[in-house]
Amino acid sequence: MRPTIQFLYLTTLISNVVAIGQPISLAFTASTGGLRLGGNGSAPTIVIDSKDWPGVTRAGNDLANDFGLVTGTKARATTSTTGLSNVPVIIAGTVGKSPIIDNLIASKKLDASAIKGKWESFTSQLVSNPAEGISTALVLAGSDKRGTIYAIYDISEQIGVSPWYWWADVPPKKKTDIYALPTVKTQGSPSIKYRGIFLNDEQPALTGWVKANYGKYDSRFHAKVFELLLRLRANYFWPAMWDAKFHVDDAKNGPLADEMGIVMGTSHTEPMARADKEKVKPWDWKSNQSGLKKYMQDGATRGKDWETVWTLGMRGDGDTASPTLDAKSLVDVINYQQSILKTTLETTDLSKVPQMWCVYKEVGGYYQAGMKIPDDVTILWTDDNSGNIQRLPIPSEVNREGKAGIYYHFDYVGSPRNYKWINTIQLSKTWEQMHLAWQRNATEIWVVNVGDLKPLELPISHFLDMAYDMSSFTSPASTDPWLALWATREFGSSVATGTAEAMATYGKLIIRRKYELLNRTPFMLSTTNYDEAENVLGEWAALQNKAQTLHDSLDTATQVAFFEMVLHPIIAGRVVQQVYINAARNSAYAAQKRMSTNTLADDVKAAYAQDGVIQKRYHGLLNGKWNHMMDQLHFGYDNWQDPSRNSMPSVKTIGTTAPSTGLMGVSVQNSAASAPGDAAPTLAGMDPYTSENRTIDIYARGSGSTDFSISSSASYINLTPSSGTVSYPSGTSDVRALIAVDWAAAPSDLSTASITITPKSGTAVKLSLPLNNFAVPAGFRGYVESNGAVAIEMQHYTFRKSGSGGAQLEVIPNYGRTDSGLTLLPVSAATQSTATGPKIVYTFFSTTASSSGKVSVYLPPSFNVAPSTPLKYAIAIDNGTPTIVTPVPSATLGAMPTGWEDSVVNGARVVSTNIGKVDAGKHELSLWLLEPGTVVQRIVVDLGGVKSSYLGPPESGRVGL
Ligand SMILES: *[C@@H]1O[C@H](CO)[C@@H](O)[C@H](O)[C@H]1NC(C)=O
Ligand SMILES: *[C@@H]1O[C@H](CO)[C@@H](O)[C@H](O)[C@H]1NC(C)=O
Ligand SMILES: *[C@@H]1O[C@H](CO)[C@@H](O)[C@H](O)[C@H]1NC(C)=O
Ligand SMILES: *[C@@H]1O[C@H](CO)[C@@H](O)[C@H](O)[C@H]1NC(C)=O
Repeated sequence: MRPTIQFLYLTTLISNVVAIGQPISLAFTASTGGLRLGGNGSAPTIVIDSKDWPGVTRAGNDLANDFGLVTGTKARATTSTTGLSNVPVIIAGTVGKSPIIDNLIASKKLDASAIKGKWESFTSQLVSNPAEGISTALVLAGSDKRGTIYAIYDISEQIGVSPWYWWADVPPKKKTDIYALPTVKTQGSPSIKYRGIFLNDEQPALTGWVKANYGKYDSRFHAKVFELLLRLRANYFWPAMWDAKFHVDDAKNGPLADEMGIVMGTSHTEPMARADKEKVKPWDWKSNQSGLKKYMQDGATRGKDWETVWTLGMRGDGDTASPTLDAKSLVDVINYQQSILKTTLETTDLSKVPQMWCVYKEVGGYYQAGMKIPDDVTILWTDDNSGNIQRLPIPSEVNREGKAGIYYHFDYVGSPRNYKWINTIQLSKTWEQMHLAWQRNATEIWVVNVGDLKPLELPISHFLDMAYDMSSFTSPASTDPWLALWATREFGSSVATGTAEAMATYGKLIIRRKYELLNRTPFMLSTTNYDEAENVLGEWAALQNKAQTLHDSLDTATQVAFFEMVLHPIIAGRVVQQVYINAARNSAYAAQKRMSTNTLADDVKAAYAQDGVIQKRYHGLLNGKWNHMMDQLHFGYDNWQDPSRNSMPSVKTIGTTAPSTGLMGVSVQNSAASAPGDAAPTLAGMDPYTSENRTIDIYARGSGSTDFSISSSASYINLTPSSGTVSYPSGTSDVRALIAVDWAAAPSDLSTASITITPKSGTAVKLSLPLNNFAVPAGFRGYVESNGAVAIEMQHYTFRKSGSGGAQLEVIPNYGRTDSGLTLLPVSAATQSTATGPKIVYTFFSTTASSSGKVSVYLPPSFNVAPSTPLKYAIAIDNGTPTIVTPVPSATLGAMPTGWEDSVVNGARVVSTNIGKVDAGKHELSLWLLEPGTVVQRIVVDLGGVKSSYLGPPESGRVGL
């Protein structure tokens, strides 16, 4: 982990106060000049002028409660500073709205010049003699309503009340002493102006939970959501729309949002602040213009007094393209919408009225066709519903008055397949995409589809923290330190590092493929080559063990929060992986007539049943507080849409009659053969640098039992175990023997040893083992080819050189499917060339000469966000001419580039380049990333030995790196 400067500062300065990514203004021990606010059963008095915004008073009452949670005594909230001598006081208020604050500024006791007139800013400082009888008070002054609200919740977070204290049951930790530090904290405007979430695809989980707890999507429910959003420093909300009508379900919803400080919006398919379910029928601009106009006018009228980002444009019914709409009539729609905004809001200047037009799906086609949209409307660019942003502002668009924003997804219903069960988000990827959006000035709106909200606590926190203050996220290595801070806030510092590592690993395992897509045929992981399927299951098992150990080290109250946000996705995810991986292994073993086929069939059934147990455990938490939140089906998809019920993949069982050759069977890596019967396979070769374990599987192929022994023709080969018993149904049906070579004693260069497995009864199997005993030249640093393959992880480069313009190739830790990513930074860099651009070199040593080498570059499923400067990289071997590759085919806006579906399903786009003849010896593979936004997550050099697999061969052996 390489913490960014900003995060390092925070964690080392005062380690026990956590405000993620924010400067600290409190301490839990006395400090010179500090003001004791409370602790040990005492709490401060919070003063908020009665003339301030009601939403500020409301947040102040929350802070009073929060002091109660951490000190045992609720703070007193009052509206005046009189009679407060000898008690600790916090004064909070809004510049220009709170007479108390304005008086402090007028009397020069408070300097608010740094925030005045700014959007959502605040200052927090100790002020001497703020009022008669008060010697010092902590003053929180906001530049506007939300500036003050964020200042208040900033104190809540620092005293130990997580934004998730209710939604994820993070227990507030008791404090004996809370001090305000004598520092002036000034919080500028957020990086992104409108930052929020979209509750969507909210059935069955969230809707079932809402019905059980509130009956409908009412104002009590929304009060909880809005409080969460404000504590997370967000301000913008698209309400649920599958089964909900925000303003109609509860007339108090709209006023509540405005009072609390939430800016309302609606999704891309719901113009003019109206719900989809309120739409007139037929929903057709051509045939029912009067009906549609009334619908739109009524939306403007209803929402005119509330803070709103107006969604403009229109789409067809039910989240589809309108068959009768075209670029020209869509302009008519938008012109009409703007005309009613002018009359209804009584303004001639719409530049002060936030409006948004979302370039979602078919809408992109209209824009591509040259549709002109008014300059004061924010263009909301979208991802592909799978986290890959399709387009960002290009030079001709960056100076638009309405600017641009991003609609992003952590949950989706649609092609290739729904993903709405649990968290499937890799945070480092979110960072890469949103950092790019930020740098390309898509900063007016960020809104993310969060499905049912609940299982996505972690990616939501990460997204909104970035949106609030991207200055802490400029480093490609920002994600892991952020994760550690997040874990510290939610579960305490004792598990911070471990939790950060666990969730970084979870991100890598889940970016490989969504749970819903694991049953696509053929199964993605190889059950034959590189032990791939087994190794992946092993990674999940190790992750689960790690998370379970962390969980068990926590107190019982914190265990609940840890379960909801960390342990549950890991154990629930692991069980789904186990079902599909072991079903695939069951099928492969059946073909080999391994009796463990039957054991695996039982294992699949048990894991499938375990899924239901985990669901019940979640639903049973805290006496059923989250019942229904895990109602989503997740097994047995056969198209993009949810199946009608969960179903287990089919498994096979096999008969117990042994073949005539006897009970014992033998198989090895990279071969499906089962011997005797099939010809004895040749073992994959070994050399001193091979990174894999070389093993032999010996197993029962019928009921009964036989002893066996393993021997080698060569004394320098060790086999563990060298003998054993396989038996079925009782006893051990499968034994895996590990081959070790004493290279000091082995012949140099190429040789072949043989290994014989001899059963007590039945036919022996003789395997040959190719050996290559060589040493890389002294001083060599780099990868070593084994069996005709070099598999490279991006962080293990030999050297790199920055470009003449200062651009550099930087590692993104814990990125992609296996290890790390590499990208070109800063993303504001111009197009680079192989002559002067930054370059990175991966050295490798090969013993296999190849007449037709091939380099496969694994990229994420990214888009050409700037169509005229598509993603681009170059590779070269040694001093060869670089081959320049534009990996993503061009596509018109609204259409997906060729290969998109496979890339999204696989979490990777693999592009191969032939490199011709490669001699044995040392080589330098040079890589240039020529266009910002290009990311590479893995490279595999095929010198003729690469076997088919999903992730590619395991990382090759490394020397000196
Ligand atoms: C609060 O309680 C703790 C633990 O009992 C004690 O160490 C500390 O001095 C107390 N602080 C005050 C100000 O009473
Ligand atoms: C237009 O929509 C309204 C409201 O649904 C409906 O009553 C009316 O019949 C529609 N008009 C036409 C011409 O379809
Ligand atoms: C983004 O906006 C800033 C300020 O207007 C400008 O200086 C910068 O060049 C813009 N960036 C891009 C990539 O257009
Ligand atoms: C290789 O074998 C050793 C010894 O059994 C074991 O500790 C290690 O985990 C194995 N490595 C892999 C990648 O399976």
